[in-house]
Amino acid sequence: MEKTDVTTATLREMKAQGERIVMLAAYDYPTARTIDEVGIDAILVGDSLSNVVLGYPNTLTVTMEEMLHHTKAVARGARRALVIGDMPFLSYQASVEDAVRNAGRFLKEGGAEAVKVEGGRSVLDKIEAILRAGIPVMGHVGLTPQWVHQFGGFRVRGKTVSIARVILEDARRLEQAGIFSLVLECIPWQLAKLITEKVEIPTIGIGAGPYCDGQVLVIHDLLGLTGPRVPKFVKRYTKLDDVVVKALGNFRREVKAGKFPTLKHSYDMPREEMRKLLGEFRRRR
Ligand code: KIV
Repeated sequence: MEKTDVTTATLREMKAQGERIVMLAAYDYPTARTIDEVGIDAILVGDSLSNVVLGYPNTLTVTMEEMLHHTKAVARGARRALVIGDMPFLSYQASVEDAVRNAGRFLKEGGAEAVKVEGGRSVLDKIEAILRAGIPVMGHVGLTPQWVHQFGGFRVRGKTVSIARVILEDARRLEQAGIFSLVLECIPWQLAKLITEKVEIPTIGIGAGPYCDGQVLVIHDLLGLTGPRVPKFVKRYTKLDDVVVKALGNFRREVKAGKFPTLKHSYDMPREEMRKLLGEFRRRR
């Protein structure tokens, strides 16, 4: 079945109409189905797959193959939401050719409809080439986690006028290049507001305050599945960790105590068949 509804053009129209955009980073089929049912506009198969789901220390480790594996699953689950594949570290930085080929794989093999690329002017030539190949690009500026070692850690970016200028100019240049939307991560809300007012494309904030055109969170953070410590910008809408721990504890207790499964959770063999089987068994002994 062909997928319908939210496209890159829809997000731009939503900004024009003043309708806020809701995006989640998610990584698998059942979650994508649920997100779709709720009417969330876009699903980013984030490179946060690396640390959130695969247990690597940061986002630098995840590979193209791992990203594609999960993008395929999300694309199978999402019928309405726009699916965006996040280009992992070193899938685009080394050359324009790498960038186009890997971005294309997200659409051709992964079933995504767009890609996200971290960085501003330093990767502009790669972004332009991807766009020339007909692949929509979502930009990402501010605290771009693939640059963590260059930044010297995960800190809010753009608190000083010199860095704020760089981020603002990057946003402008990316818009001119033709990206359809821009993620603003961990920047002061005043800077995010200014960028949102200056660009016509929709901005999607994470740790960038309330004045962006949309918001994105990692679904595991929002559901309370990422342990006790989360960044300041995360709001936990529930604490699934507690629910899961309780359920698993109950399962363990019941199996140990011989209380699960009962016959209610077991399959029945017709009495006559069982009688024949026992007869054969006795004869053989
Ligand atoms: O990888 C990711 O999850 C992201 C975010 C914008 C949430 O890049």
